[in-house]
This record gives sequence, C-alpha cells and structure tokens, in this order.
Amino acid sequence: MAVSIKSKTEIELMREAGRILAITHEELRKQVKPGMSTLEVDRIGEEIIRSFGCIPSFLNYNGYPASICVSINEEVVHGIPNKDRIIQEDDIVSLDAGVIYKGYHSDAARTLIMPGVSEEVKKLVQITKESFFKGIEQAVPGNHIVDIGRAIQEYVEGYGYSVVRDLIGHGVGAKLHEEPEVPNFASKRRGVKLCAGMTIAVEPMINLGEYDVYWEDDDWTVVTEDGLPSAHYENTILITDNGPEILSTAPGIEL
Ligand code: MF3
Ligand code: CO
Repeated sequence: MAVSIKSKTEIELMREAGRILAITHEELRKQVKPGMSTLEVDRIGEEIIRSFGCIPSFLNYNGYPASICVSINEEVVHGIPNKDRIIQEDDIVSLDAGVIYKGYHSDAARTLIMPGVSEEVKKLVQITKESFFKGIEQAVPGNHIVDIGRAIQEYVEGYGYSVVRDLIGHGVGAKLHEEPEVPNFASKRRGVKLCAGMTIAVEPMINLGEYDVYWEDDDWTVVTEDGLPSAHYENTILITDNGPEILSTAPGIEL
C-alpha cells in the first residue's frame, strides 16, 4: 500500500478531528490533578470527545479497553486507565488520545506535569515537546521520513536523553495507523519521500535514561527497563508546500 495523499475534503475533516482533539487535551490539562484516578481521566476525556459527536478512536482498537492512554512516569505509552491508580503530586502523566470525526482520525499526546515534579523531569518533558518541533521542521516536500527522526534524535541526545526504538509514529487518516512508518530516530533507510497532502502523526517518546522498554503483563503498558521516566508528545500534521501544518490544534489553545 502506498502512502495516501489526502484530498481537500479529507483534510477539512481531519482538521476538524484535530481541533476537537486539541480542545479535549486542553480540557484534560485543566482538569487532571493529583488525587484523581487514571480511570476518571479516561471518563472525562471520553465524555468530551463524545460531546462533539465524535468517537474515541482508541476504544477497542486491537482490544485496547479505554479511550485515553494514561501513562505515568516510567510508563512510556499505552497505560490502561484504572480506578485504583491514583495520580500523585510528583507524577508526569502522559495522555494520548484519538478522535474520529466523520470517518477521519486525529491522534495527539501531551505529557502533563503535576505540581511536585522535579526540575530534572520537567526539563525532560519540555525537551520532548521541543524535539517534536525540531522534527517537523524537516517535514517538507522533497525531504524523506528519516529527516524527521534524525532531527528528533540529534536534539534529544544532545541533552543525554534517549529515543525509544520499539514504538514509532505513523501515517493517519481514514485509519488510525496508515503508512508510512515515522521513526523518531535515524537509520540507513530513508523512508518515503515526503509530498504535500500526506498526513502523519509525529510522536517522540523520550526516556531520561536508556531507550530499552518492555511490555507489562496487560500486553499494553510499555515501561522503561531502567525505571526512569519517559515523556511523550504527539500531533497529527499535514505536509504542505509551505511546510508542516499541525492539525491537532485550535485557536487560542496551548499546543
Ligand atoms: N498514539 C498511539 C499510537 O499511535 C495510540 C494507539 S493506542 C491504542 O500507537 F490504544 F489505540 F492502541
Ligand atoms: Co500515534
């Protein structure tokens, strides 16, 4: 399967899916506090998504049992919401969510910083976010997929952090996961050449320590081997002749 080029109409639907997702993240950022269970976070997120008449795209995806992935500290991604898992004062909480609007997906993640988080870990979260922007600077027609990952990797390794290898970004559109694969690191393989009209989810997962991860017995939660924290930041973007356009955003909302 080749990488799909979205039509104007498809892009409009994805922009709306992205706008709704950005509002969902903004509302979660305001509401998520220490003392709350990760299941409550999921409930709030699902309700917001449904209030727009949208479907949470992660719910039942390959059997995933919730709408919002909630991953705390050394959990990298795909944490499963649980009524007994209570957010603590010094946690970083990564929230990953997807929205389907009229058949089109948006996918985005934010890592929230609770009030007692150390400066060291706050910096990890900040640099992870910045690495996304370094990556998408390369998301221009004529470049290749690898240019995005190389920029992310060089940036975060400059701070002594590491890039998770076992999970990557992806094309997105009529399906949550489409071609191409979008690694957050460089390899000899250049990947496809980027063209205007491609829509991809760029999602650096950055570890404070080593890049190794493992899967917990729930078959979902991905955790760092060394137990050190990991941050995640993701947006759905459109490649245009004028550079990358972030689709998972809305006017007046913090990215
Ligand atoms: N952003 C994640 C990804 O691209 C979301 C998928 S989680 C799942 O893999 F729960 F839906 F599987
Ligand atoms: Co994704």
